[in-house]
Amino acid sequence: MAEKKIKILIVDDIPEARERLQKLLAFEPDFEVVGMASGGREGIRLAIELQPDIVLMDINMPDIDGITAATELRRNVPTVGVIMMSVQGEAEYIRRALQAGARDFLTKPPPTEELYATVRRVAEDMRSLSILVSSEDKKEKKKLEVEADHVSHVIAVYSPQGGAGKTTIATNLAAALKREGVRVLLVDCDLQFGDVGVFLNLKPQATIVELIRSVDDLDLDLVNGVLVTHDSGLRVLAAPVRPEDAEYVPTAKVPLLIEKLRSQFDFIVLDMNTRIDEMALALFDMASRILLVLNPTLPALKNGLAAITLLDSLEYPQEKTQLVLNRVTPELERSKVAIAVSVFEQKLRRKAFAIIPMDEKRVLYAVNRGISVIAKDRNQSPARDLITMADALIQDLAPKQEAPASSQQLQTPDKPPASRLGRLFGSR
Ligand SMILES: Nc1ncnc2c1ncn2[C@@H]1O[C@H](COP(=O)(O)OP(=O)(O)O)[C@@H](O)[C@H]1O
Ligand SMILES: [Mg+2]
Repeated sequence: MAEKKIKILIVDDIPEARERLQKLLAFEPDFEVVGMASGGREGIRLAIELQPDIVLMDINMPDIDGITAATELRRNVPTVGVIMMSVQGEAEYIRRALQAGARDFLTKPPPTEELYATVRRVAEDMRSLSILVSSEDKKEKKKLEVEADHVSHVIAVYSPQGGAGKTTIATNLAAALKREGVRVLLVDCDLQFGDVGVFLNLKPQATIVELIRSVDDLDLDLVNGVLVTHDSGLRVLAAPVRPEDAEYVPTAKVPLLIEKLRSQFDFIVLDMNTRIDEMALALFDMASRILLVLNPTLPALKNGLAAITLLDSLEYPQEKTQLVLNRVTPELERSKVAIAVSVFEQKLRRKAFAIIPMDEKRVLYAVNRGISVIAKDRNQSPARDLITMADALIQDLAPKQEAPASSQQLQTPDKPPASRLGRLFGSR
């Protein structure tokens, strides 16, 4: 079956520049230059009329510049992939172009192979996206409705240590929270090296990059299209595919995005990275629980203490920040090779909320097959401990005046999820 050609619109005020691009693109059978414009305004008009897949947009043009035109295009033709071009390749230019909604940036004149590769890659990204955002349903956007009594809980899984088990805990916690009638979202907040997708063997078509650019005007179809669904029914918001794509995610907007997604979920589990920055602090603020994941080592004790001191200085309620000790080996603790759980409890001034044993075989097996640990041997440690931790969270976060939430109650499928969870999580 012949692939559809990639339709390209060239916008540049210099005739020679347009012609050079047109000639180069004509060599490739999968490209079709559908139009050329000599200014920003004409470019916008032609893009609306011709609905190209790609617009190659010059930045400096006499009527309206490429940045303004790209901003305008994002509003009018959201399925078009703008590739900005400029002789100036400085970071500031690139930043402004990406902020305006450009998908990529080329310095002029672009090297031929780079031009081809960029056009193909952006077209591929846009194809997945255009399935999600067709210009038709723009007219009747389904807004993210907020139910009056809806309460959702954000759970931030954090560690000052890399490799402590944040992603292991976050993916398994989310999978264990997911049960009949409970809507759970797992968000990969490690924007550069997020690996939730790998842990759960998901191949996201779209990531946080696609949602964050529409954060001010989110609609339900876009959200549903971007979130990936795991076999368990758990929804996942994936991190950018390439580390350099983290640039496309303005971190200041991530908390706003999470806030908006709350209306659709009962639990949002955040797999954080090790940095405590403005984004992390804003996410901590909105969290019902922060799970501080530590391994029984001296550096973890030192960094854990520093992190707890910082978190405590934010004057959160005592129960908000909980200690999760991961990779605990009782024999090593007894022989004083590993630092004892009790030492952590004493230094960090709280009881361990969960103690997850070290189990190379089971955890590695799961990670390398892209399945959750809890998907196998649910009654065996560490799956059992991870499930117990999820159950404890559900119990803790259910309103106290209600009868204790048994898993039986949670699984009764006879009421719509929202109202049942409204009862369960009626207060934060
Ligand atoms: N309880 C555990 N027992 C054995 N291995 C573990 C355990 N928890 C995590 N690991 C392993 O440690 C590695 C790092 O875990 P990961 O969850 O990616 O850490 P982080 O997200 O904090 O960087 C993974 O390869 C995982 O298999
Ligand atoms: Mg991780």
